[in-house]
Amino acid sequence: MEKPVIEGGRPVREKAIHYGHQYIDDADIQAVVEVLKSDYLTCGPKIEELEQKLCALTEAKYAVVCANGTAALHIAALSAGVGEGDEVITTPITFAASANCALYCGAKPVFADIDPETYNIDPAKVEALITAKTKAVVAVDYTGQSAALDPLREICGKHGLILIEDGAHVIGTKYKGRPNGSISDMTTFSFHPVKTVTGGEGGAVLTNSEAFYEKLLLYRAHGITRKEDFMEHTPDGPWYYEQIALGYNYRMTDMQAALIISQLDKLPLFSRRRKEIVRRYDQAFSEHPALFVQREIPESDTTRHLYILRLVPERLKIDRKQFFAALAAENVCCNVHYIPTYYFPYYEKMGYRRGLCPNAEKLYEELITLPLYYGMSDEDVESVIEAVLKITAYYSV
Ligand SMILES: Cc1ncc(COP(=O)(O)O)c(C=O)c1O
Repeated sequence: MEKPVIEGGRPVREKAIHYGHQYIDDADIQAVVEVLKSDYLTCGPKIEELEQKLCALTEAKYAVVCANGTAALHIAALSAGVGEGDEVITTPITFAASANCALYCGAKPVFADIDPETYNIDPAKVEALITAKTKAVVAVDYTGQSAALDPLREICGKHGLILIEDGAHVIGTKYKGRPNGSISDMTTFSFHPVKTVTGGEGGAVLTNSEAFYEKLLLYRAHGITRKEDFMEHTPDGPWYYEQIALGYNYRMTDMQAALIISQLDKLPLFSRRRKEIVRRYDQAFSEHPALFVQREIPESDTTRHLYILRLVPERLKIDRKQFFAALAAENVCCNVHYIPTYYFPYYEKMGYRRGLCPNAEKLYEELITLPLYYGMSDEDVESVIEAVLKITAYYSV
């Protein structure tokens, strides 16, 4: 066998298989073009149509779409009443936005460790960190596998906390037979291009609570209302509106909404193919002593957004960085999701130190995100498997 390269591996551009890629078809393009020819580029009919479609998909009563998943987390945290002096518990194995949303509101993120097998936030660790200042929990459905929502809901209920589910990865997943989006107090989605469904950019918050819904609408649009019931003064005329809170311009455009609506029609296809690829990877890797695959919990019928392969350091002569480079040399362009949030200098400067969440830190040391997206051909999938097994075979101990 030819020796795999482990330093400075570079993929051949035309052959590279990336870790994620959007899938856009003619129907998607047509949907956006129709909006461009219409009267409304923003605040138009596609916004409500998408919100209704998301409610139908998730069985949530209300949906508020917005500019991106980060904005969705921000308005969810504001609507939960998160503010100065509060604490918000979240996982460090996530994108920075899951914790940043607490900082935006003047609150302090508190990091709870993950379950070493599912990689989702560990409810027992969450409960141990609750103080009189805790206001909310932001639970991420990491890789698309649902967080342990029942235990988390119970803990939040017992301590009077709001459960915000960062569902940026979760669209298409069901927890105990219910679609994620209708279970937590609020669930946020992201429609970034690497996600299962994309709008270029885009986000949404789902909720069953009318009170949260009204607040989400306010924070999405400058804190401005046209509803007389919410106004402090008598309207001067039909043009009248009032700003009653400090909100933002987090609106989604109708082009984004039209693209997401069209993409959602393909969600069953996207879901099926992602599940197929995950099954094939699991089959190829799960018995290998140098590799470890993410355990699927039976409660979650998962549409996987990311495929995480964990390397067992004791069984390999090369480290993760070398493995990563070797894959690149085989044209497999991986990624690593995620660097624990509190490793970032911005967080270090606030006093966070390494060692806070040992399970999360160990996972970060060992994981590689393999390519997973709808448009991957069977050939692509087999090329990825071949590359992983070739490197593992050569460098296993
Ligand atoms: C877990 C998680 N939360 C939040 C976000 C933020 O979403 P967006 O990029 O749409 O702002 C992302 C997206 O990368 C994410 O992966």
